[in-house]
Amino acid sequence: MTERRGAFAVRATLMHAPHFGSVEVASDALVEVAEDGSIAAVTTADAADHGQRLEAARSAGILQTMSPGCYLLPGFIDLHIHAPQWPQLGKALHLPLSDWLAKNTFPLEARYADTAFAHRVYSSLVNTLIANGTTTAVYFGTVHGEANQALAEICLERGQRAFVGKVAMDDPDQCPDYYRDASAADAIDGTARLIEHIRALGGNDTGLVKPIVTPRFIPSCSDEVLSELGRLARSTGSHIQTHCSESDWEHDFVLQRLGKSDAHALRDFGLLTRHTVLAHSNFISAQDCTAIAGAGAGVAHCPLSNFYFANSVFPLRAALEKGVRVGLGTDISGGPSASMFDSCRSAIAASRALEDGVDPMRPADERGTEDSRIDFRHAFWLATTGGAEVLDIPAGRFAPGLQFDAIALDTRAAGSNVGVWEDLDSEEDILQKIVYGATRDCITDVWIAGRRVHGSETCAPQASHKD
Ligand code: GUN
Ligand code: FE
Repeated sequence: MTERRGAFAVRATLMHAPHFGSVEVASDALVEVAEDGSIAAVTTADAADHGQRLEAARSAGILQTMSPGCYLLPGFIDLHIHAPQWPQLGKALHLPLSDWLAKNTFPLEARYADTAFAHRVYSSLVNTLIANGTTTAVYFGTVHGEANQALAEICLERGQRAFVGKVAMDDPDQCPDYYRDASAADAIDGTARLIEHIRALGGNDTGLVKPIVTPRFIPSCSDEVLSELGRLARSTGSHIQTHCSESDWEHDFVLQRLGKSDAHALRDFGLLTRHTVLAHSNFISAQDCTAIAGAGAGVAHCPLSNFYFANSVFPLRAALEKGVRVGLGTDISGGPSASMFDSCRSAIAASRALEDGVDPMRPADERGTEDSRIDFRHAFWLATTGGAEVLDIPAGRFAPGLQFDAIALDTRAAGSNVGVWEDLDSEEDILQKIVYGATRDCITDVWIAGRRVHGSETCAPQASHKD
């Protein structure tokens, strides 16, 4: 499926969000991509050398020109996905978190002892996410070594930038006999083995797929596993992911067990680092924010999932103001959508609900939390640049030296719900309509590290045609 990589240039209208709260739209820009998949140059239409560079690309036969109605956007960075929960997408959303885990999720995840089943599900998931424009995916796997290896290999083969973690969960009080690590040593050794396996994978010399240390969440792990995984992450220089203060039940459970919040407990276990992704974090206090920001850790805000399982809305603005890095996650299958466009839309809606409040029985001035709202610009930043900053990866926007991870979006594609009225809509209006209305039908091409990994070529024909 993937194309061989070579230097090329794309002439297109770019839309990206380098800074929180604003977007940039550059018509008729030229993005030159080097052989290694990095962006060599971004030349806007007003640059003195625009015509010259365009001509050079054209005469080298490497110019791809996007059609009218098409736009080039950075690929999405989904900071929180449970790969094994893919068959459960859109099911079982009626239960509270602890029942959902015990009754639906653990039985499903236990099936990945069958590696053939894992192959079937993970191929479908990775293909679907790429088609939805997710160029970087941060995955929780299961406890099973072979299934996790299969996930990493499928990501590499399909060309998706990914972080893949072996879920560690060893506490017999909280995890069922049929689905847990048999011992603390099993959880730790299994994690170490996956780190080694992923780093040694043939064809992964650029580190497109990376391991990530993954204690499921404090309630499912013994103290020994938590502290040893902190040590392992440090000694191997690995990223870390876990769930943090997600719901009333989970947050209170940790307070009861350890006498401190998730963020402080994770810090004390050595699990709060510059490369930690904390899913949810809905109940973090001002002191938690200070600890998270001080460590340089980031939050995967999963607004759609939070409507079902979190009992609250994540205080996004408050966290950002305290210096916490934040990006977006789908939390498949806690969040019933594979589309980061849906994450953007849910983040905007959640922020509006938080600001205005939701209970009409309360007076307006006591109903909500002031200064909580975000708009499409903030949401688009969270899904791209914000996610890249959380992970510390060179992606998320268009600039020389960053990776060319991008999507071609055709507002005129068959099945598009994005209606553009050229006499009425500014370029920023068009991006707003894309954030609110685009679906995978509009995503015609996807590149990761400069390789076209999905594409109909309707938007970016190989041969240059008229200008
Ligand atoms: N907390 C522990 N495991 C999970 C999970 O699979 N999904 C969510 N949303 N929260 C969790
Ligand atoms: Fe989750």
